Amino acid sequence: MKSSLSPTRTTTPESVPLLDLRRQYESIREDVLTAIARVCDSQSFILGPEVEALEREIATLTGADCAVGCASGTEALWLALVAAGVKPGDSVITTAFSFFASASAIVRAGATPILMDVDPGTLNLDPALVEQRLRTKPTKKIGAVLPVHLYGQCADVDAFVRIAQEFRLAIVEDAAQAIGAEWRGRPAGSLGAVAAFSFYPTKNLSAYGDAGIVTTSDPEMAEHMRRLRNHGSPRRYYHEEFGWNGRMDAIQAAVLRVKLRHIACWNESRRQHAGAYDRLLADAGLSARECNAPVQLLTRSPHAKHVFHQYVIRAERRDDLRKFLADRKIGTEVYYPLPLHLQPAFAYLGLKAGDLPVAERAAQEVLALPMFPELTDSEIRWVVENIAEFYS
Ligand SMILES: Cc1ncc(COP(=O)(O)O)c(C=O)c1O
Repeated sequence: MKSSLSPTRTTTPESVPLLDLRRQYESIREDVLTAIARVCDSQSFILGPEVEALEREIATLTGADCAVGCASGTEALWLALVAAGVKPGDSVITTAFSFFASASAIVRAGATPILMDVDPGTLNLDPALVEQRLRTKPTKKIGAVLPVHLYGQCADVDAFVRIAQEFRLAIVEDAAQAIGAEWRGRPAGSLGAVAAFSFYPTKNLSAYGDAGIVTTSDPEMAEHMRRLRNHGSPRRYYHEEFGWNGRMDAIQAAVLRVKLRHIACWNESRRQHAGAYDRLLADAGLSARECNAPVQLLTRSPHAKHVFHQYVIRAERRDDLRKFLADRKIGTEVYYPLPLHLQPAFAYLGLKAGDLPVAERAAQEVLALPMFPELTDSEIRWVVENIAEFYS
C-alpha cells in the first residue's frame, strides 16, 4: 500500500503512547496541587462542599437539574438503575459490546441483563433489535433499557426515546465514556431518565483515583441516590433502606473541578485528532470505502457530537497489526476482546458464540489508536505511516 504521508512528516517520535496523562498533568499541575491543598486545609475528605460544587458544575454541563457524586462509574450505574425503579427479578436490556460494568451493575441491582447485539456501523446498541425483541418476545418486568454511548458517541437516542415511551421503560444512559457528548445539541446526561458517568483515570474527564457521578432532572430520584450512596441514610445513623458506601472523596472532586474548566477544549482537540486520523488514513488509501480496504472507520451519526474517548478502527489481521505497532512502541488497545454474552460470568444467561454476531465480529476487529488531547500531529502521522507500512 502506497503512503503519501512521508514528505510532510517532520520528526519521528520514539514512541506514541495510547494515553499520556503526564502531559495533561504538566499543563495543570499548579492548579491541581492548589486544589488538593485546599481539601487538606479544610480537613473535609468525603462529600462536603467540594463534591457539592462539582455536582452543581456537572449538572450545568449536562443540562440535568441534579447530579450526585459517587465512588465510581460502576457505582453510578447501580445508583441509576435502582433510582430508575429496577427491582430484583426485573430484566434490563443492554448492549453485549461494552465494559463489563454496563451489565454487572444490572446484576448488582438484582436484575437480569438482556444482552443484545449492536449496530454494525456505530457498534452502539441496535434499537431495531431492541424493538423487535420487545414486540416478539414480551417479557414481564423489563425495568429499563441501558444504552452505552460507546467510545464517546451517543447511541441512537431518538429511537430509544420512542421505544421507551411505547414500552414504558426508563432510559438509563451509560455515559461513562461520553462526558461532553451531545445528541441533536443536547448533552449526554440529560437524554434519558438518569445517566451514569465514570471519572476513571483514562476517561475524558478523569480523577486521580476512582470516582463517578449520576445525573437526572428528577429531584426525587436524585434524593434517593443521595441516600443510597450513603447506606440508605437520610440523616446520620438512621437508615431507611439498604444502600452502600458509594460516596465520592473531596480530593477527587477538587481535582475534577480543575479539569472541568478544560473539558470543552480537550474534547475539541480530540475531535481534531480524529479528523486528522480520518484524513491521513484515507490519503494513505487504507480506509477507502469502495475497495477492500484493510481498515474500516466506524459510522458517525450526523446527530451525534462525538467526544472520541477512543478513536477506534476495525482492522484486518488486527492482532498482527497490534503487535507490529507495539514493536514500534505505538500503544493500542482492544475495547473489547470478548463480548459480554461470552464472558464466563454471564454463562448463566445461556447465550453462546454465534448468537450476537455483530458484537462477536467487532471484538475480533476493533483497535483503539493513541488518543488524548495533547497528542501531536507528527505522532498521529507516525501512527498512520506505520499502519500503512504494515499493510504495504
Ligand atoms: C462503558 C463503561 N461503563 C461503566 C464503566 C465503569 O466505570 P468505573 O471504572 O469508573 O467503575 C466504564 C469504565 O471503566 C465504562 O467504560
